[in-house]
Parts: sequence; C-alpha cells; structure tokens
Amino acid sequence: MWMRNTIRRLTLAVTCATLIAVTASAQDQVRIASPDGRNEVTVEIREGRLYYSLQRDGRAVLLPSLLGFEFRGAQPLRDGLRVVDTTRKTVDETWTQVWGEVARVRDHHRELRLVVAEAAPPGRRFAVVFRVFDDGVGFRYELPEQPGLGAFEITEELTEFALADNARAWWIPAFRPNRYEYLYRASPVSTLDTVHTPLTMEFLDGLHVVIHEAHLVDYAGMTLVGGRGREQSLTLRTYLAPWDDGVKVRGHTPFATPWRTIQLADQAADLAPSVLGLNLNPPNVLDDVSWIRPMKYIGIWWGMHIRTMTWGSGPKHGATTENTKQYIDFAAENGFGGVLVEGWNVGWDGNWLDNGDVFSFTEPYPDFDLPALAAYASERGVGLVGHNETSMGIENYERQLEDGFGLYQKSGIEAVKTGYVGDETYHGHAHHGQYMVRHWRKVIEAAARHGIMLDVHEPIKDTGERRTYPHMMTREGARGQEFNAWAGDGGNPPEHETILFFTRLLAGPMDFTPGVFDILIESETGTPRSPQQSRIRTTLAKQLALYVVLYSPLQMAADLPENYVNQPAFQFVRDVAVDWEDTRVLDGKIGDYVVVARQERDGESWYVGAITDEEARTLEISLSFLAPGRSYVAETYADGPEAHWLHNPLAIEISQRTVDAGSRLTLSLAPGGGQAIRIRPAR
Ligand code: NOJ
Repeated sequence: MWMRNTIRRLTLAVTCATLIAVTASAQDQVRIASPDGRNEVTVEIREGRLYYSLQRDGRAVLLPSLLGFEFRGAQPLRDGLRVVDTTRKTVDETWTQVWGEVARVRDHHRELRLVVAEAAPPGRRFAVVFRVFDDGVGFRYELPEQPGLGAFEITEELTEFALADNARAWWIPAFRPNRYEYLYRASPVSTLDTVHTPLTMEFLDGLHVVIHEAHLVDYAGMTLVGGRGREQSLTLRTYLAPWDDGVKVRGHTPFATPWRTIQLADQAADLAPSVLGLNLNPPNVLDDVSWIRPMKYIGIWWGMHIRTMTWGSGPKHGATTENTKQYIDFAAENGFGGVLVEGWNVGWDGNWLDNGDVFSFTEPYPDFDLPALAAYASERGVGLVGHNETSMGIENYERQLEDGFGLYQKSGIEAVKTGYVGDETYHGHAHHGQYMVRHWRKVIEAAARHGIMLDVHEPIKDTGERRTYPHMMTREGARGQEFNAWAGDGGNPPEHETILFFTRLLAGPMDFTPGVFDILIESETGTPRSPQQSRIRTTLAKQLALYVVLYSPLQMAADLPENYVNQPAFQFVRDVAVDWEDTRVLDGKIGDYVVVARQERDGESWYVGAITDEEARTLEISLSFLAPGRSYVAETYADGPEAHWLHNPLAIEISQRTVDAGSRLTLSLAPGGGQAIRIRPAR
C-alpha cells in the first residue's frame, strides 16, 4: 500500500508538475485535533476518494465519510484524488456580539487546510478546510480558480456523515408544504428519510451531536437523507435543495461552500448557547450599529389568528389608524419598543395566500394613516414594525424592495417582519434552494442599506447571518405560537418548546411569540375553547418562562393588549430583558424539560426560565451564578399548587424572597407548566 501510494505520488508529481506543486508535507492521512485534544478529525484518501472521520476522546463519532461533488456536464470531483498540500494554523480570539445570548464569544480552534487534486487530467483540485473547536467541527470546500474548473453546476454534494451509532434523532421532515413547521419526532437515525438541519442526535452513551451548516450565502440549503430504504444505514447523506431544473448549485470559481458543522456535547444542557456556527461566519460588516436595538414588541396580529380581526379591509380590519394608536399607547405605557402592524398595506383582500403578485408594499389601506401613525409612535418613543407578507410572490417583492424599504426608512419604521406563506417552491425553485437563498440575501442587504431590522417568517433556516449582519434579528422557521390559535390543527403539545430549545434554537433566535395569557382563547367568541379545540397547551407561568428559554432579540408579547390589563403576571413580561450578557443552561433533557438562567446585558439582574412537557417535575437549582457576597431579590412566578395545562392553566403564585449565590431553589412545575424568576440586586 505504502509502495502504491509512493508510486502514485511520484506519478502525480511528474504528470501534473505544471499544475500542482507537491509539497513535502503532503500525505494521504492527516489528523487535526481541537485545542483541548478531545475532538480529532482524520482526513484520508482511500482508493482515490477523499474521506473524513471524527473521534471524541478516542471513540468514533463519524466513521470515514465521503467528500466530493457531482456536476452537470463534467466528471464528478470524487475519484483518483491525491493530497497535494496541507497547511495548519491555530486561532484564539474573543469577539463581542452586537446582541446575543452571550456578550462575548471565544473563537478557539485549530485549522487544517488540505488541498487534493485529481491524479489524471484535467487534474482539477479543491481544498477542504477543517476547523476543530472544543465544541465541534466545521468544514467547507473551496474550489479555486483553475483551467479545468470555471463555471459549474453542482448536481450533488457528496458529503456524508457516517454515524458510528444508531443515535436517537429529533427531526422534522424536509420538502413538505409547511417548510420547517412540523412537530419534531424522535427516532433512530437508521429510520430517517429526508430531514432538515439542525439535526440533534443523542448517542447511546449520552454524547450529543448536532449536524447543521453555517454561512449559507450563495448555495443551496442542505438537508440530510437518512438510512430508511437503504438497509438501515447509519450514514446521513447531503441532499441539497434544487433549482427548478434539478441543478443544486450554480457557481464559478473561486468558490467556497457553506460550512458543514458537527456540534458535540457531553450532555444536552451543554448544547446551548451554540456559538460554533457564529464563529464560522465573517465578522460584522456594518459600520454603524446604533440603529439596531433588541426590543420587546406587541402587535396587531393575534387578533387575525384567532379571527377577531382581519388583515383585509372590512368591518373587522385590524390595522386601522384608531386601533394602531391604542396599541402604540399601550406599548408606550408598558415599555415596549415596537408595535407590529399586519394588514396595513393593500393586497390582503380575497384569499391572500394567492395574492403573491398583488401585494403593494408601499400603499396603505385608506383607513391606515401611515405618516400620522409614524409621527404618533415616534412622539411616544415607540417604533413601528412594518410587515411584508409576500405570499411567495418573490419577483413582486423584489421589484418593490427598494421603494418599500425607502418609504419605511423615511417613515421611521425600525423593523420589518417579512413572510413567505405559500408553496414549498417558487416557480419550481425549492423554498430553501439557492434561488431563495439569494433572495433572502438581497433582502438582508436592502434592509442594511435602509437601516431596518429584520424578522423573517417562513424563512430559510438560520446559519449565523446575524454575526455579519446584526440587523438580521430573528426569524420563525419552526412551529410557533400561532399554531395554537388555528382550530383544527391540534396545536403544539406541551413538550414542543422543550424540543425546540435543543433543535431549532441551536441555529439562532426564534420569533416564537410567547406571552398569550388568554390560554383558552376566550377573546375569540366570549367563551373558552373546549379541550378538543386548539388552545394553548400551557400554564400561564410557562408562557412567562418562554421569554427566557426561547431566545429572540425581538421578543413579542403576543396576546391582545386587553388580556394583559390587571394581570399581575404581566409584570414579568414588562421586566424581562431581551439581550444577554451571559447564558447558563442549568439542566435539561430533550423533550422533557429545560432550565435556563440569563444575565441581562450591561446589568446585574438574572432571569431564570424553566419549562416542562406534560409531566409535573420538581427541579433543584443552585444560584451559584450570582455574584458572590451580594444579596438579591428573587421575584418568582410559579405554577399554583393545582395548576395543570389542561384543567387549571391560569393558577399562578407570585412571590418574593431574598437569595444569594449560596441559595438553592426548588422549582415545582405543573404538567405543561413552567416557572419564571427575575433575580435583581436587593436595594
Ligand atoms: C405567517 C406568519 O408566521 C404569521 O406571523 C403572519 O401573521 C402570517 N403569516 C401572515 O403574514
């Protein structure tokens, strides 16, 4: 074998001397370990094909997994490969986030850049760059400019993840009409079909592994095809979302793919906050970030979902000048930064799902006085959050983007919520394929030019864009609260958010829209919805806890303002922060429960959120994260003794006690319940 490799190396050196310089360091098996030495990647050539594998503490996580590409109109970049160069470096730097779950992020990794080339003509070459961190691995392909590889069309990225264990995976299906909006299910990897990332898995020994991607800019979103139908294979294969003609990615060298990421943690609680993907994105490119401000907001929104208001014109039109003024008043009185107004613009009448080519993004309905409302809001220190539902009319939206964002900027609209309700494809282009990825990038860039923060619904998944463009605040990309409003769907089960925290939220912030106090949705008809109908499967205390657990820098108080009046529990929603200095996951098990503590940014208060699934739980937590030697007041919003998401959701106990870093708290969570605590320094 050694002899064969040597002969191959010599042959390559002779035949491709003009193309490739074989360096002294070139070899056919190369290793790189994380700074703490626990994670090690091996890259090797086996029979001319390139594979990587991953070990943690010497035990296999990924077995040799294939790398490479297939193209339209060209030979695959897969066979007859030789390693021709390797370079290494170590990086250790800490950077500060404009906002986030933690203020500062350490980027400490070892990098291996490995160049491979085809031994035979045309001798094309590419590089794979591995960055190995203590919390996981990222790798990407680089296709340099070269005579045999200019413009290309990728039909398949061959990247595999050959799991060493039939791990338990929490997954949602890919290529379905509701995009990422499905309930997560847990099953062995060997039974998976095509699933989205982040894909969170638990090995038999408790190791947690999350496959996702970072820095998706001009490429197709990656889904994973599991072993189902392939004799229970444990190998996940990459399946990129296609263009209308089946091509996956169009590009031109020099080119770099997104990073494929494999996050590793010894236990579920160590998965969050996840910064691996952020470290693999380029730093902030905005010179001025003074206009970016995390905030809580309310909105003319829930009323449409529970059918007390309409988006379109008529007697129940929600976005009227009068109504919006009342929302602005409520926001100002209660310290909310913004008021979202949906249904302000012409285009909603009829079946709005079909109005993709009809929406105007500049023309308000006649009963919505935009200039007057912008002035009214600004006088009260409140920002308007604009709304652009596209119904997947992408060209219609792109045509109006500049005018729309120009108008919003002029009107002092600080943030825009966009929406892409519609088919899973646009003219045959997959919702999360390269065509749409390019579209979302155009919107991010236009918003940056006009100083507008973004909240994207029905988005492409988060791959860490917020590091480079910190006005890309939050997005949906999973089943949010709205599913609880829609009669007939069945709503989200009590375990839903305990799974979201360890799956969807590892990618980035989510605009889940917590804080519905009218849990039985009485405001719709004046009578509570029956247990058989959709309602919120939660206790009131859990709705509060979600503000801490499910991170979003734009965090909504989703209910109708009148449902917050005379509600003592609303004080927590008023108080809770939206930008964090530090985050600690105190305990958690995927699908069962989670307890999170977060310290407010530039402040001394901490907030704790604990949520459970349909089981009641008693959890003990230590407050050792508090500053030693200081006294604090813990304001606790706990499930009442008889609370139960089904029978008694509103029972809540609000109390105060003095605590310090030596205190331990016992949290009693009702079935479908939670607890929220504000811990502020004692005066
Ligand atoms: C779906 C979004 O998730 C929701 O928040 C919005 O109200 C509707 N689309 C209408 O745009």
